[in-house]
Amino acid sequence: MNGPHRIRIFGGGEFTCGEDEPVLLAMERCGAGDIGVGCRGGGCGICRVRVLEGNYTTGKMSTAKVSESDREAGFALACRLFPTGDLVIAVE
Ligand code: FES
Repeated sequence: MNGPHRIRIFGGGEFTCGEDEPVLLAMERCGAGDIGVGCRGGGCGICRVRVLEGNYTTGKMSTAKVSESDREAGFALACRLFPTGDLVIAVE
C-alpha cells in the first residue's frame, strides 16, 4: 500500500493526498491553501503549482500552460498532479 502522502505548502498548511487522488482535490478536501480551481482537466492552467521537493507523476497537462522546461523545473497543474511520496509545493 502506498500513501496517503503528506503534502506541505511552502509557507502554508499541510494536507494528505493518496496516490490516485489529484493534489488539487486533496487540497480542497482539506481546506488547505488558496488555489484557483477551473477546468479540473489540465487545460486552463489556473491550478499551476511548483513542486519543490518530492516525487510525483502527472497526467495530461496543457503544454501551453506548462511547457517542457516548466515541467523540468517542477511546475505542474495540481488537478493533474499525483504524489508518489511526500511533497513540498509552492502555490503561485
Ligand atoms: S483546474 Fe484547469 S488546469 Fe487545473
